[in-house]
Amino acid sequence: MTTTTHPVDVLMAEHRVIERVLTALEQRIGELDQPPFPYDFLTQALDFFRNFADGCHHAKEEELLFPRLEQRGIPREYGPIGCMLKEHAQGRECLARVSAHLDAARDGTGEARAMVRAAALEYITLLRQHIYKEDNILFQMAIRALDPDDAAELMARFAEPSNPRLSAEVRRRYEALAERLCGDAAVAR
Ligand SMILES: [Fe+2]
Ligand SMILES: [Fe+2]
Repeated sequence: MTTTTHPVDVLMAEHRVIERVLTALEQRIGELDQPPFPYDFLTQALDFFRNFADGCHHAKEEELLFPRLEQRGIPREYGPIGCMLKEHAQGRECLARVSAHLDAARDGTGEARAMVRAAALEYITLLRQHIYKEDNILFQMAIRALDPDDAAELMARFAEPSNPRLSAEVRRRYEALAERLCGDAAVAR
């Protein structure tokens, strides 16, 4: 009974996938100033970060883990949960800026390419620091705060069939996309 996977382990495993795609994105940033513009890679990376990092991973944190941690006494306002929520919102704002300037950057506008580069680099730095804080601070607090029933319930709700964003099928699809993106980055180097 004690051998079941802990919800923090699931989230940390997702962090490792996200970090690999952040590294792939960082490797491709240098291509922004020389043709061919990596439009397909950036479009697919946006899909991954919006629908896996945010839609699947941050959704588990915001809708399931964080509310339970609040119930167990970890504060939201002026505490680690509020800080993590703010960073999720900052990440969405960076992705929106990449998306808004992507077509113009592909079409050769230097200013748009600079905007894509700046927003992508800001996102990479933000998310790496965010993941570090969760792994080493908030998730360590979570391991201490959650009892075995909390952990079992969160694990069940992580696989909630009524929420397609959290399904194992979606997770598998985006893990496969992550592999392709990392492969593309290795080839392009
Ligand atoms: Fe987070
Ligand atoms: Fe996270």
